[in-house]
Parts: sequence; C-alpha cells; structure tokens
Amino acid sequence: MSDNIIGAAPKRIDGRLKVSGAAPYAADHLPEGTAFGYGVFSTIASGEITRLSLDEARRSPGVIDIFHHDNFPDLHRSPASFAEGNMVEETRLPFEDNRIYYAGQFVALVVADTFENARAAAYKVKVEYSESEAIANLDQGVAAHGTEAGSSEHSRGDPASAFDGAAQRIDVTYTTPVETHNPMEMHASVAQWHDGQLIIYESSQGVVMQKGALSKIFGLTPDRIRVESPFIGSGFGSKLWMWPHAVAASAASREIARPVQLVVPRAQMFTTTGHRPETRQRLRLATDGNGRLVSLRHDSINTTSFTDRYVETCGSVTKSLYHCDNLSISHATTRVNRGTPTSMRAPGAAPGLFALESAIDEMALKAGVDPLAFRLNNYAERDESLDLDFSSNHIVEATRRAAERFGWQDRNPEPGSMRDGNEIVGYGMAACNWEALKFGCEARVSLRADGSAYVTCATQDIGTGTYTIVAQAVSDVTGLPLERITVRLGDTSYPEGPLSGGSWATATTLPAVAEATRNAIDQLKSYAVSSRGRFSGVDAGELGFENAQLVHNGERIDYVDILSAQRLASADGRAKTSGADNEYSYRSFGAHFVEVRWDPGISRLRVSRVVSAIDVGQVINEMTARNQVEGAIVMGLGMAHFEATEYDHRDGRPVNNDYAEYVVPVHADQPELDVILLDYPDYQFNEFGARGIGEIGTTGLAAAVANAVYHATGKRVRDLPIHKEKLM
Ligand code: MOS
Repeated sequence: MSDNIIGAAPKRIDGRLKVSGAAPYAADHLPEGTAFGYGVFSTIASGEITRLSLDEARRSPGVIDIFHHDNFPDLHRSPASFAEGNMVEETRLPFEDNRIYYAGQFVALVVADTFENARAAAYKVKVEYSESEAIANLDQGVAAHGTEAGSSEHSRGDPASAFDGAAQRIDVTYTTPVETHNPMEMHASVAQWHDGQLIIYESSQGVVMQKGALSKIFGLTPDRIRVESPFIGSGFGSKLWMWPHAVAASAASREIARPVQLVVPRAQMFTTTGHRPETRQRLRLATDGNGRLVSLRHDSINTTSFTDRYVETCGSVTKSLYHCDNLSISHATTRVNRGTPTSMRAPGAAPGLFALESAIDEMALKAGVDPLAFRLNNYAERDESLDLDFSSNHIVEATRRAAERFGWQDRNPEPGSMRDGNEIVGYGMAACNWEALKFGCEARVSLRADGSAYVTCATQDIGTGTYTIVAQAVSDVTGLPLERITVRLGDTSYPEGPLSGGSWATATTLPAVAEATRNAIDQLKSYAVSSRGRFSGVDAGELGFENAQLVHNGERIDYVDILSAQRLASADGRAKTSGADNEYSYRSFGAHFVEVRWDPGISRLRVSRVVSAIDVGQVINEMTARNQVEGAIVMGLGMAHFEATEYDHRDGRPVNNDYAEYVVPVHADQPELDVILLDYPDYQFNEFGARGIGEIGTTGLAAAVANAVYHATGKRVRDLPIHKEKLM
C-alpha cells in the first residue's frame, strides 16, 4: 500500500456525500430560529445616499429589522495583513458611511423571518442618491487621474539601450477585460452568537484567515470565533478573503440575537465579492541576430477600486521564464468605480502570460524563428530574478513532449496555409508557469482503537480533492486503507491550516499531516514498550510500523491490539511544519499546444485540440490532479474566447451579470484535452516532492489560442476575449 498510494488515482472520498446531496454547504446550515437577510444594493457607481425610505419595507410581512449606514453598529476595520492572518481585500466596512464607490455596493440589509419575505421587503426600500460621474473603465481612470506605481517591481541590466541597439524589436500592447469568478455555489454566511461567541458557516477558501479578520473587525479574542467551511462549491480565488456580506450577517445576527443567513445574489457576485481586474500591458522585446532575447520590458496597468489598492502582478512570471540580461517589469493601478478586485485563478500570471506568450510569438515571427524553437532557445536555465537555481525544472522536456504528441513538426508556418475542407487550421503554443509556495501548517492525527485514523486540519477542500489526498498521506505513512481514514477540514477549531489557494494547499498540508501521523505512531510505540505493553522492555527505536502493525524481530501486532490491551482509545500525534526556504526558486512549468479551426464562410471559430505537458513535481492523486489541469485549461479557453464582464460605460454597472450572459465554455466548446503529467518529484520542496497543481493550467492557454488564431487567420488579436467579430 505505502509503495503506491501516492500517485495512485483513488476517487474522492467525499464524492458520495457531494453527489448525493448529503454534503452541507454554508447556506444549508440553518440553526433553530434562523432569520434571513437580503441586501439592497446601490444602483449608482459613484456618489452618496441622500435618503432612505424604509416605511413600506418595514411594514412588509415578516420583517425583523433593516440595517443601513445610520443604524449599523460601529465596528473596527481589519488591518488587512496577510502575514498577520487577517487579510481582507475590501477594507471598507459595509454601511460605514453614506458614500457609494461602486454599483452593487451594499446600501441596506433587510432581515426577515423567511428568505422570500426578506427579498420582498428589500425591493421596497427606496434609496435616493446624489450621483457623481462614475469612472467606468481603465481608459477613463487613466484619463481622469493617471496611475499609481505598484509593487513587486524588478529590473536588471539596461533594457532601454539594449532595445535601441537590437537587431529586431517589437513594441505591442495587450488588454484583458474584467473576468468574474462565478463559482457554482454563491457566497453565503450563516452567523450565530452564543454568549458573546460568534460561530459562522461560510463558503470560504480560508477559515483561519476569516477568523483573524473577524476578530479584528468585532474586537474579539480569537477564541471567541469559530468559522466553518466543510464543503465549498468552488471559489477560484473569490473566497480566499472575507467580503462585506459576512460582516453584515455577523453584525445583524448579534443585533437581533438570532442566527442570520445571508446569501449573495448572483448579480452581486459581479460587484461585491471581487473580480479579476481589467489590464493593459505594454511589451517591448528585442532580439540579437541569432534570435536570442536581449531586452524584455513588461509594463502593466490594472484597474482597482477607490477603497482599496489591488495590484494584478502581470509581470510576475516574465521576470524568470526566459534568459534575458536586460529586463524590467512594472505594475501600476488606476482607480475606477468598481468593487475591489481580487485574486482569480493564477492571478497576475493568467493575464500576464496572455501578453508575454503572445509577444514571444510575435517576437519569434519577427526574428524569423519557429515559435517552438524560439522558446527552447530562450528558456532560462536558472531564476535570474532571484539569482537562484530552480529546485526542479523540466520545461524543455515538457515542451518537447507536448510538441511531439501534438504534431508540431507538421505545422506549415505560413498563416492560413493549413486547410481542411472549409476550415483553416491554426497551430499555436505557449509556455505555462506558476510559483510553488508552501506555508506553515499544523495537523492532528489519531490512530483509534476501532482501527480507524482521524485527521483534523483547518484547511479546506474547495472541490479539488484535499480530503482525499490528506487521507492518502495518512495511508502512505500507516498502511491503513483509505476507507478507514476519516478526514475533517474546514473548521477553525482544528489545528491551523492554510488557505486553499495559490496552489499551495497540497505542499503545505501534506508534510504536516505525515509528520503528525509519525508522531501518533511514536506515541503508539511508547505505549507498546511501556511496562504494560505488548512489547514491554523493547527499545521503541527497534520497533517498525508496517501495514497498521507494529513489528519487532518478525513479530507483528495490530496497533488496535496495542491500544485495547491497555484500554486506550487512541494514540495521537500533532505536528507543526514551517514554510518554504529560500535556497531555490520553486516554480512549476509546462507548455500548451492548441489547434483552432476557423471557418471563414460561416465565421465559426473553435478550439479543436489541446495538448499540454505539465511539470508540477510528484503528482499525489493522478485523477484529481488531471481534473485540476483539465479544469484550468477549460477556464483558459473561457478566458481566450468568452469571458468578459461588460460594464455600462455611462454608469459603471455590470451588464452581463448572470449565468446566461456571462459566457463560459460549455461541453460543446470543449475539445479533447490531452494532459501529460511529468511527475518528477521535487524533494527540495517537501518530502512528497509535490509542488501544487491548481493554477498553472490556466496560465498561457489564452496566448496559445491567440497564437493559433494568428496562424489560422493572419490576424493578431491583442485584446481578450477573441470574439469571432474580431476576425471578420
Ligand atoms: Mo486561487 S486565485 O489562489 O484561489
């Protein structure tokens, strides 16, 4: 068992609960006496509330109370520190004052005896505004007040003079629209108070972080707050940090002394729970006469809100993917009347690699080099931004293997030259890349007298398979089959675990779980060698542990018998592990190859094939890992072809704010996906050799599509999404 459970493909251990409807999601927790909240949201994007008319709403059936800026309790702001564990993206508290910064901002909260009564009353709240002119998009923001310089800059060499003296140059600008996460499960809180203690069920990617933020906002010691998020219908980053609805629900519950459920309506998932911001990115690249990069500059601007400054780090990959002595990146922001942006799957890298990997294609063509050969000729061998070796980097093999499987050698480089009946076939490729991160983590494991193991950690399973891989780690150390391992996650009463984000949950959680399991085994051994134990008098160091049995000189005893012989319920272990060191640059690598088919007669564009090779270290679960990469590729297809939150340029309101009009790929849009997982363990990073897999597949995909579209049509689309209108 322990030889092969890591890297095997067991099904999700929580799968049956989820598909049978037995898994409770946040809004399903309805304690006795729960009241229901419904928000009233601003219909203007900028200005002030001048008058709230509540009489009609108050008379509406079932209404318990209505909260707004004049009667909402005074709270504290969270310092919004990731390092201190109280990060929020939108620091302004709901109902803090009468000012409006974006359309869809909470202006009131109605609480009633049922959801329907709350909603009906909310529609009866009349709000009058004094409206000022909204800044509705990036261009308007830059025109109105310019930009503010951002963080995480990097530069080396002298990119300007290298550019001026180079053999070939390009200077191109790419734009990407706002994208909205749109997880199936909407944001939801159910808050209740007992004796001054807050318990909140939340659809959260980070219960520990939410507890930290709530403790600051409500001025409570952390022991008085419990956040639970046992199951979550995904988040894609929108649920990493707490948003205003959770504060509103918690405060309202305290005021009315009843539990309060508050679900964010789908339309407000486009306004008050974050989005990927709009970007404009200028890429300046230059090569020498041999097609080697000699200068690379990547300067990006993204939109942020008037309340908070969010930086989309589009240049984060640019600084280390290619060898280049003269390089700079910069990030600037401009303020617009939209809600605060936030991380969305592969933040920075997803829009950043659309621009970089499109520009690499353009540069290769300008230099007269095949885009595949150009990349192989220019990939960095070490991280030149950190001046460190990569812990493990197989991008060359990933690129070659995917190219071979795809059939890149059959590509005729001439745009529009590959025809198949009425269709023109285009081949494009791009690199993909994501950082590997790891943080401190605690976990607890009990080996119980009933033959089971019980694991707790306050991380979350956001649908990605965390429950399952945690069980795999325990199985790997103990030899117990998965069905005898119970995993509990998503509750701040468990030992502190990481956010489910940044592709770091696996690398962070598994070493702590394994260490806690070994500590439980050590406790078991100490019981076994104690005076009443079955191996009494034996040196504990001479005991082995295999297949749930203690072993000594060929004698094997089930651990259950060790415990029951001493009337013990369990042997327990805890562990606390630390984050990554700075000895190497830890990153994941890969390449996408995309085939598009363009039928100019009927203006039909589709992606017909994707082949991707991904180097993420050791794969823990072959099935859930493949699911992650395939899902990320589909999200990349959405980014390439469909996704854009459209704002009315007159008033800054999102227009396509529902599942019907915010277009994402459906099954008919999805081609055959061929994913190669390279599976080279990275033991520099952790004992499992795993780096994390959630985000990398989204990076580079949109560029591979754009490059294939250029190859098919001869049209270079530099602004996402690639609607077919842009090809006509
Ligand atoms: Mo991801 S954007 O870190 O959920």
